[in-house]
Amino acid sequence: MNNQLIIFDTTLRDGEQSPGASLSVSEKVEIAKQLEKLKVDIIEAGFPVSSPEQFDAVERISNEVGVTVAALARSKEIDIKAAYNAIKNGEKKRIHTFSSTSDYHILGKFGDDRYGKTLADKRETVIKMSYDMVKYAKTFVDDVEFSAEDAGRTDLNYLVEVVEAAIEAGATTINIPDTTGYTMPKEFGEKIAYLKNNVKNINNIIISVHCHNDLGLAVANSISGIENGARQIECTVNGIGERAGNASLEEIVMALKVRKDIFDIESKINTKEIINTSKLVSGYTGIIIQPNKAIVGENAFAHESGIHQDGMLKNRETYEIMTPETVGLQKTKIVLGRHSGRHGLKARLQELGYTLEGDELIKVYDAFTKLADKKKEVYDDDLRILMGDSKNRNDEIFNLEYMHVFGGSSTIPTATVRIKRDGEIVEDSATGDGPVDALFNAIDRALDKKPTVESYRVRSVTAGRDALGEVAVRIRKNNRSYTGVGVSTDTIEASAKAYIQAINKKERFERSKKEVEVEKVNGGI
Ligand code: KIV
Ligand code: ZN
Repeated sequence: MNNQLIIFDTTLRDGEQSPGASLSVSEKVEIAKQLEKLKVDIIEAGFPVSSPEQFDAVERISNEVGVTVAALARSKEIDIKAAYNAIKNGEKKRIHTFSSTSDYHILGKFGDDRYGKTLADKRETVIKMSYDMVKYAKTFVDDVEFSAEDAGRTDLNYLVEVVEAAIEAGATTINIPDTTGYTMPKEFGEKIAYLKNNVKNINNIIISVHCHNDLGLAVANSISGIENGARQIECTVNGIGERAGNASLEEIVMALKVRKDIFDIESKINTKEIINTSKLVSGYTGIIIQPNKAIVGENAFAHESGIHQDGMLKNRETYEIMTPETVGLQKTKIVLGRHSGRHGLKARLQELGYTLEGDELIKVYDAFTKLADKKKEVYDDDLRILMGDSKNRNDEIFNLEYMHVFGGSSTIPTATVRIKRDGEIVEDSATGDGPVDALFNAIDRALDKKPTVESYRVRSVTAGRDALGEVAVRIRKNNRSYTGVGVSTDTIEASAKAYIQAINKKERFERSKKEVEVEKVNGGI
């Protein structure tokens, strides 16, 4: 059997479906470029039919990276057309179409009689729909992937029929998702083996697996899939994704690398880029990595107890199965300071995964010199945060121009803000229970918005009193969450930046939804 493993990264599609993780188009493009450096084989860049912003992101990524870009589509012509239009100018393109195949999904989504009166009829409709839509996708591109959504809970013999139909229609990759994270590793592996042994022409296509982590088994299930014949893994950086997330890219890749004595299979991943990619994704999504997370958590290579430290000093292998360097972790060191020049900054940022030119470099350098004045020693993590924060640059719908907060133990906290709103300056003031509350109230008044604040988190980026404070604010409106991240040596200012960034994300999403509505109405007329 082929011993090359295809890594299909869906951080920008399934990963972005994590609550609050909405990314801007430019953030997605930057992440895609870093994924290319990491050497993933395929980037699933989004779901183009779902919003103009998703369409733009997929189109831009497809035009700007050299790896295969996949666009997601339901088994509907309108979706497949949008997917194709978004990737058509790219170098290497894949349409990824899917149908729901478990009885839970079929009865839930195709309950209407027009899909058939009985469950058996509805199942037939799904097979026909899948066949027709793979054929339709093939009229646009050669590389078509078909997914049987909720395959983990799909009747096995019915799954064989659906998969056979998709292969007959021309699918080149068949993906078996455990959409609800329900299966056990042995059971999931047996499912893959059954398909391998019973589906006609299965050896002409690549079997893929896509596992969710609801029971904490996404990585184990993915590996069991590999052991039984899967050669494509769908995964995300830091394991982010719907609910409990997807299988974590870094865990699968490192498990195969560390235990190559039992897996005769390799991916092309440049493991030295794992940490950079992980931090980039965490910074832009605002989803912090738990300290004990395997491979990329802050404690993944920390040895605390005296016995362990002593063992490590004598021989690293006593307690270490892989070196931190393999995943790109370097001992924190001072990289830059107030006398560093623009070229030095550009070169260091490039090593960390950020490519900057022209005006963007000038703006970031300006922010860097201000930080270096306050902080003297600028570490890699400060630079990463600075880059995330530079997304708050003045090209948003709402930009903070000025803020003043007044507080103390015996006064009523009061805040005043001046914000550029769609190019116009607005100012307002408000009081609150504390300085941050007063600040958020003043911003709400200035922008005439009142989102619910779901969570508010402050952490220091590096050590020391002058460390940068990073604030992440998650807001919620109309059943959707948006996270903003702000950074400053002043945590109150960081709070304002984070809150305004979250509001900008919400606003962009709502405005782009309105465009879709207008298009639908015009189309209807
Ligand atoms: O989890 C799932 O089933 C999916 C499909 C769209 C592949 O994300
Ligand atoms: Zn999924």
